[in-house]
Amino acid sequence: MKLTIIGSGYVGLTTGTCFAEMGHHVTCVDNNETKVKALREGIIPIYEPGLEDLIKKNVAVGKLKFTSSLQEALPEAEAIFIAVPTPPNEDGSVDLSFMERVAREIAEVLTPSMGYKVIVDKSTVPVKTGEKVAQTITHYAGKEVEFDVVSNPEFLREGCAVDDLLHPDRIVIGANSQRAMDVLKQVYRPFHAPILETDIESAELIKHAANSFLALKISYINAVARVCEKTGADVELVAEGIGMDKRISRHFLNAGLGYGGSCFPKDVKAFISISRQLGEPFLLLEEVERINEEQHERFLNRLRDRLWVFRDKKIAVWGLAFKQNTDDIRESIGIKLCQKLVAEGAIVSATDPKAMGTARPILEPIGVNFVDDMYECARDAEVLIIATEWADFANADLQKLSSVMRNRIIFDGRNIMSPDNLKTMNFEYHSVGRPSV
Ligand code: UDX
Repeated sequence: MKLTIIGSGYVGLTTGTCFAEMGHHVTCVDNNETKVKALREGIIPIYEPGLEDLIKKNVAVGKLKFTSSLQEALPEAEAIFIAVPTPPNEDGSVDLSFMERVAREIAEVLTPSMGYKVIVDKSTVPVKTGEKVAQTITHYAGKEVEFDVVSNPEFLREGCAVDDLLHPDRIVIGANSQRAMDVLKQVYRPFHAPILETDIESAELIKHAANSFLALKISYINAVARVCEKTGADVELVAEGIGMDKRISRHFLNAGLGYGGSCFPKDVKAFISISRQLGEPFLLLEEVERINEEQHERFLNRLRDRLWVFRDKKIAVWGLAFKQNTDDIRESIGIKLCQKLVAEGAIVSATDPKAMGTARPILEPIGVNFVDDMYECARDAEVLIIATEWADFANADLQKLSSVMRNRIIFDGRNIMSPDNLKTMNFEYHSVGRPSV
């Protein structure tokens, strides 16, 4: 099929590439000409395992191309996916101005002679946005243009986006016409994944409700971790015990510094705002958010209790990405910790396997020292903080680490190390919801 993806950011680029990999002919559009030029030259703007190879492979066989022109990308497309940013406003509501602009731009290009088009909303949007997109297109394109709007939310995780897209748990398609539903089902046929067919509103809600529920699981286990800390229980064992119940599952019950990234913080806020606007305040989610915001502050308080003052003390931070396998630092707890430590006068050195480039412009101006080698980063440090769950950190050579640190004190904000191993190596080890050793 001929597909067009508008917006070559994280979601648009990975989705378009995976559609091409599945055999479709895909045109990715972006209004940033520098980005389009770079993509044409094989320069990929984000780090995502496996993505670069897939882009190059599909460009080479002519199934994937990039342009900044809607005039070029729309006429032949059977389905047009909108994957533009939907950032939060100050009050937590969703800024839909990019969506609105793209809807207008599509309308300006479409003509009746181009035939029936399915316009697919991939961006995460508040319920009822599909209706607004349809109204906007009719308003600007005129009634003769034949189209339907469909909601098709994405559930990809950064760091494993390619795998999530190629082997999805489920595909959600929200459409109000069978004709549009059939087109989307044809798009997804090669994926051999279960498809849930819904109305547009339900599909829109599924996305916000799913992400908010995952965030809730994380805040839940972090609240349990607090109780564990007060009682000497071990949150990892508690998570294992409750996770063995299939109705609960162990996934997303990893206690730590809380969730970050471009999705959970924004989507929880948005769902809170949407439900308030609808007159049904979702107080449970307000609590989820509050627990998450407190989580790294509580961790810092424990560090303050241990060091008394931070001023002039060398503190190493391992982990700047908001989670492992990505260079994304949006809403990263590691970045927040560095900023707070510097504000209190600590001498901070930081490292990350992939996110040094993205973090530098934010942290270098405030004096954070970037060190490529994780052991050199910890050299002479009084404390080492682990802020991201990278496997490199979990598998650190403790002998080597012990020989470079000034004090062998570790504050593990992601519970990735084994207290027994640390104890054997004479480290003082603090983690989240587990007894310190
Ligand atoms: C998330 C959803 O998983 C995905 O389905 C959606 O489409 C986009 O948002 P992503 O933001 O890429 O994906 O990362 P995810 O792996 O979900 O992790 C989010 C944050 O939660 C990270 O900061 C991670 O460290 C944290 N986390 C995750 C925990 O603290 N504990 C856990 O058990 C799991």
